[in-house]
Amino acid sequence: MNRILSGVQPTGNLHLGNYLGAIRNWVSMQDSYECLFMLADLHAITVPQEPAALRKSVRETAAAYIACGVNPEKAAIFPQSAISGHAELAWILSCHTPLGWLNRMTQFKEKSGKNKENAPLGLYSYPVLMAADIILYKATHVPVGEDQKQHLELCRDIAGAFNRAYKTEFFPIPEPVILGAATRIMSLRDGTKKMSKSDESDYSRINLTDDTDTIALKFRKAKSDMVEGPITYDETARPEAANLLNIYATLKGITREQAVAEQDGKNFSAFKQSLTDLAVEKLAPITARMRELLATPDYIDQVLAKGVAKAGGTATQTMREVKDLVGFL
Ligand code: TYM
Repeated sequence: MNRILSGVQPTGNLHLGNYLGAIRNWVSMQDSYECLFMLADLHAITVPQEPAALRKSVRETAAAYIACGVNPEKAAIFPQSAISGHAELAWILSCHTPLGWLNRMTQFKEKSGKNKENAPLGLYSYPVLMAADIILYKATHVPVGEDQKQHLELCRDIAGAFNRAYKTEFFPIPEPVILGAATRIMSLRDGTKKMSKSDESDYSRINLTDDTDTIALKFRKAKSDMVEGPITYDETARPEAANLLNIYATLKGITREQAVAEQDGKNFSAFKQSLTDLAVEKLAPITARMRELLATPDYIDQVLAKGVAKAGGTATQTMREVKDLVGFL
C-alpha cells in the first residue's frame, strides 16, 4: 500500500493555511493510504522555544489534526522526537548531502535573515531532517502546501544520492502532493505575503482556535482593493481578492471559477460577508472539537503513544537495514 507522511511544526496555533494547504488533504487521502502524521517538534527547535509552551503546543497540534478530521484509529499521530530514527537517519543523510544543495534553499535564506553567521546549524540542515522524516518510513507520497515544494525536491535528490552511494533502490523516491486552490494561502493584510504563524499581526491569519466573532472581524478587516464592481479572480492585479476566492472555493469544495460565478456580480464587501458565513460554518465545528479534545489530555496522550508504537516499528526496521547498508557493525 502507498504510504503518506506529513507534519506540522507545533509552534503555536495552526492557521487556515495549514488546514487548507495541508491537513484537509491528509483527511481526503486517509482512506486510500497508510498514514503517518507527525508533530515536527525537532524542526520546531530550529528557532528558540519555551519548553512548557512547546509541550503544550504538541498536544494542541495533535488535537487540531483530530479535530480537522484525521482519524487516529487509522493514522499514526506521533511526536517526531519520540522516534530516534529521525535524528539518526538525518545524520547519515547529511553525509550524502552536498552543501551546494542546501545553499539553494530559499526558506533558510528567509528565516536566517541578514545575520547568517549567527543562524544555528539546525536551521540550515532542517531540510535534511525533513528528508529523513519522509524516507525513514519509505513514504511514497507527501501532501504539503506549496512552500514545502523545494524541500521535497531536495528530499528526492537526497534519497537518490543515498541509493546511488550504496548501489541500491532501498528508498522509494517520494512524490509531493500539492493539491487544490489553497496550496498557498496569503496573509489577510497583504496578498503578496504567505499566511504564517510568525507574522506579528494576528489579523494576518485565521487561527483554528479563533471564535466566530474573531473570524468575522478578521475577514471584515482583511485588505480589499479599490477596483469597482464585481469580485473577479486576477492573481496579479487583485491578489487579495484572488486569495479570498481561493479560500472560499477550497472551504466550499468548488473550483475558483465556480466561486466567482457563484458570487454573481457581488462587490468585494458583499463577497467578504459570504466568505465569513462560510468560514464560520466550516471552522466552528473544528474549534469546538478541539476544545473538547484539549479537555481530555489523557486521550491525546493515548493517541500519541499508539502512534509512536505504530510508527516506531517501521522506523526501527528501516534503521536496522540502513545501518547494514552503510556498514555499521
Ligand atoms: P509548517 O509547520 O510550516 O506547515 C505545515 C503545513 O502547512 C502548509 N502551509 C501552508 N499551506 C498553504 N498556505 C499557507 N500559507 C501555508 N502555510 C503552511 C505547509 O506547506 C505544510 O504542509 N517543514 C515542515 C514540517 C515538516 C514536514 C516534514 C512536512 C517536517 N518534516 C516531512 C512534510 C514531510 C513545516 O515547517 O511545515
